[in-house]
Amino acid sequence: MKKPIIAPSLLSADFGNLQRDIEMINDSQADWFHVDVMDGIFVPNISFGFPIMKTISKHAKKPLDVHLMIANPEKYAKRFAEEGADQLTFHIENTCNAKELLVHIRELKMKAGIAINPGTPIEKLKGLMHFLDLVIVMSVEPGFGGQKFMPQTFHKISELKQLMHAEGAHPLIEVDGGVDLENAGQLFAKGADALVAGNTIFAALDQQAMIHRLKSIQAE
Ligand code: DX5
Ligand code: ZN
Repeated sequence: MKKPIIAPSLLSADFGNLQRDIEMINDSQADWFHVDVMDGIFVPNISFGFPIMKTISKHAKKPLDVHLMIANPEKYAKRFAEEGADQLTFHIENTCNAKELLVHIRELKMKAGIAINPGTPIEKLKGLMHFLDLVIVMSVEPGFGGQKFMPQTFHKISELKQLMHAEGAHPLIEVDGGVDLENAGQLFAKGADALVAGNTIFAALDQQAMIHRLKSIQAE
């Protein structure tokens, strides 16, 4: 039976014990490391940059799913490839030539993704499906971990699936923000392939058990 891809967000990790938290994920059933890079310009928060990225690459034994919440992402694609990103996602809201950047990311041998904010209509992604390996549907406003899931996300996933169908290409659908045991089953049933979880995993007493529970959810 199909299972969801689980991507713990390191934004909620304990940065004083980053290696320990990365190893916890290495030894868990999680599939990807979700790496949130914020610049304080595109979003009102600053997370971390290349030195932390280096530590993550050094210890992580699973693909690095890098989510750029930064202005001018095109400037940094090559550097992220050099730092070990396997998947690179930028936001549609701040990119003038999305197609060109997606092609560039693939040329750099990474999987190419676009993230879309709750307030941005799916039609902004028209014509791009063949150039994408994944789409991150934001289920909170980007910038902070631990926010409340926005239920309009379910409808957004359906619209995205329609667009994929119309264009005859099916990049992975990843949902990011407020994912928990309450909404995960329904998200999976609606067509989400990958679920990001920060707070739900790192606030749990037994983090590996929580990853296991998320991985085992049934489509509702
Ligand atoms: C928010 C980030 C998310 C965040 C998810 O801007 O893109 O990846 O870390 O964290 P939770 O699961 O706590 O909402
Ligand atoms: Zn993210």
